[in-house]
Amino acid sequence: MGRTKTICFCNNKGGSGKSTSCSNIGYAMSLLGYRVLLIDGDMQLNLSLSFFDEDDVLEMAKGERNLYMAVKNGRDLQDYIVPTPYENLDIIPSSTLMSSIEYELFAKWQREFILKKALRSVRESEKYDVILIDAPPTLGGWVMNILCASDKMIIPVESSPWGLFGLANMFEFLGGAKEIAPELELMGIAITKVDERKNYFRQTVETLRELEDVKVFENYIHVDSAIEWAQDDSSPVLVYKKSSRSAKEYYELAKEVIALCQ
Ligand SMILES: Nc1ncnc2c1ncn2[C@@H]1O[C@H](COP(=O)(O)OP(=O)(O)OP(=O)(O)O)[C@@H](O)[C@H]1O
Ligand SMILES: [Mg+2]
Repeated sequence: MGRTKTICFCNNKGGSGKSTSCSNIGYAMSLLGYRVLLIDGDMQLNLSLSFFDEDDVLEMAKGERNLYMAVKNGRDLQDYIVPTPYENLDIIPSSTLMSSIEYELFAKWQREFILKKALRSVRESEKYDVILIDAPPTLGGWVMNILCASDKMIIPVESSPWGLFGLANMFEFLGGAKEIAPELELMGIAITKVDERKNYFRQTVETLRELEDVKVFENYIHVDSAIEWAQDDSSPVLVYKKSSRSAKEYYELAKEVIALCQ
């Protein structure tokens, strides 16, 4: 795969499947033998909760070893990496204090590049093939940091009437990020929570496929209760129920993402 690739999962629309896609694609990549670092960039702690139970996540969130403390104090993220229970898969946990990250960034010099700088030595060490960052459902200085620290962006879009609403704002924000981080590229749109019995699905696909210069991933993720049970169990769906539809779909989607990293 070459040097470390950093990919963020962004969409200002809440509940579009960012955290679910980040955790499951990350786990699938680790199964495929790639060395993966996950970064939980959201105060909701959902990416961290995908791998650890609530008590452990809250302990990390309240302690010193989380993303908020690193960014606030301008530390090297190398020292904030925590192993998950799985081989080839590490994580930098988040904190509920991330709610005040915008305030912390405000007075910093080159404030759009704080995360990029904090990640530099992790990237240069080439200890990981990919770094996947889960973004919160906002568009502000912190998400700008996430974009500026990334090589590629994936936009998970929920297949629902409101799933597409706000996408224009996301594209505009991406355009702004590219002005200061010209190498950043939109890798593609991942369609999530598909229910083929509903016509919205076809409408979502048609609308997205009409967008110029935007790739829509071939593998869609269907609505699947195994996802929720897996999250309740703090496990990737490929661990919780390997035979489930979404487990297979995330595995295939991860392969598509890897192919675009080469
Ligand atoms: N394929 C799926 N089938 C069923 N439920 C799903 C699926 N994907 C995600 N969900 C559920 O939808 C909700 C939103 O998913 P998720 O948290 O991944 O979205 P998000 O974009 O990260 O949300 P936020 O914007 O709040 O960070 C969660 O409760 C999750 O369990
Ligand atoms: Mg999320």
